[in-house]
Amino acid sequence: MNFSKELNQNELFEKVALAAQKLNLETYVVGGFVRDLILGRPSKDLDFTCVGSGIALAEEVARQFDYHVPLSLFKNFGTAMLKVGDSELEFVGARKESYRSESRKPIVEDGTLEEDLERRDFTINSMAISLNSDNYGELLDPFDGLGDLRKKIIKTPLDPEVTFSDDPLRMMRAVRFASQLEFDIDADTFFALGQHAHRLRIVSAERIIVELNKIILTEKPSYGFKLLFVGKLLHEFFPEMVELQGVDSVDDKSHKDNFYHTLQVLDNVSQVTNDLWLRWAAILHDIAKPATKRFNSKVGWTFHGHEDRGARMTPAIFKRLKLPMDERMRYVQKLVRLHLRPIALVKDEVTDSALRRLLFDAGDDIDDLMKLCRADITSKNNKKVKRYLENFDKVEQKLREVEEKDHVRNFQPPISGEEIMETLGLEPSKIVGEIKEEIKEAILEGKIQNNPEEARRLMHHLAQAKGLIKP
Ligand code: CTP
Repeated sequence: MNFSKELNQNELFEKVALAAQKLNLETYVVGGFVRDLILGRPSKDLDFTCVGSGIALAEEVARQFDYHVPLSLFKNFGTAMLKVGDSELEFVGARKESYRSESRKPIVEDGTLEEDLERRDFTINSMAISLNSDNYGELLDPFDGLGDLRKKIIKTPLDPEVTFSDDPLRMMRAVRFASQLEFDIDADTFFALGQHAHRLRIVSAERIIVELNKIILTEKPSYGFKLLFVGKLLHEFFPEMVELQGVDSVDDKSHKDNFYHTLQVLDNVSQVTNDLWLRWAAILHDIAKPATKRFNSKVGWTFHGHEDRGARMTPAIFKRLKLPMDERMRYVQKLVRLHLRPIALVKDEVTDSALRRLLFDAGDDIDDLMKLCRADITSKNNKKVKRYLENFDKVEQKLREVEEKDHVRNFQPPISGEEIMETLGLEPSKIVGEIKEEIKEAILEGKIQNNPEEARRLMHHLAQAKGLIKP
């Protein structure tokens, strides 16, 4: 198979080939780029392997571009990077030992192209295309990666035990590629993954979360999570999610399996958003169900307060998984806390004040919250799902009406603490906070309008009632 036609569409390859020829270095483009080229997927980053010094090759390529491209050398590790446009080019000498792109371990032993390819993660990533003049564009595929691409299989080039002990993160990568490409994992590879799952413990949380987030961002993330669960990888870094699995029955009353329910919610929400954090909110929305589960002979299974408890669990989970502890965490936490609120509004007689309170609490995240709630309806009974979704349409309509009227979505109190202190001659104190809170409550309850005049009138009234000013 020859790809010279495809290579000729990008002048970059010509330049690398020219540089390689000048230095008399056997050179190949390898790994992800080759895989994606065959699959017809776009790929920005390019990895080049030469039999010799990757640094010398990168320097020569930079010269071909008249040094107009930023070059970074990592001399201790024998690698070099060039940025051309928005593509990153990595150059490395073929090596005998295990390959991983982000490894900052020094190269110990130089090797041949075959030795380099066999220490890579999967057959579909162990292909190379020659940039040498005698066979320019030819595919080198010692492990039949092409066959596995056609069969849609993720398989290690060597005995999976060897490939996985070289770098246990590859077990996560197996699931990640399977999810992204919608491939199966080869039976022997998957068996080894199950056997070696515990070795994930030696991998840093930072590397694991990169792969997990890529799985979460696939079209149908439940597939990746099921593989993680069955392969017991999930047990190593996300036990709270594993806990969701299982069904208990008492007196013939069972609850639903919250693991599979969560995956369904995640898939549902993924159909309407590519936002990683909204997808994380779906993953965590019921995370406290195991901790709050009770059985009551009258009502059956309950999970009272799981939304608050789940919100309280969110920071610790984010911290351990090395997810960001900033407004993204607080956004997820907020959606977890509020995820039952819209469904409680699905009654006909819902009051404006309940709607105002939800708008006030959700702020700009109200639309995302509604997406999560719609995704949360997972009954097998289609009629029931339809009825619920129609009810949500009504709730959204009512929310729109109240927002238009009262503008509480990004509610800013119409009267500040400073104004209260100044007008009433008060020092900073608890009572200032109390007056402010009572004004807010009155607005949310619809007792006064959301404007400064009415707020000031109420402030004077409250101050009189508290004996701060004379009537
Ligand atoms: N690789 C490996 N083992 C790892 C990481 C990477 O063998 N733990 C090899 C694979 O040959 C892979 C190449 O390094 O194709 C580049 O790695 P990376 O950039 O992480 O992945 P890509 O395959 O390019 O895929 P993507 O860009 O989707 O991450």
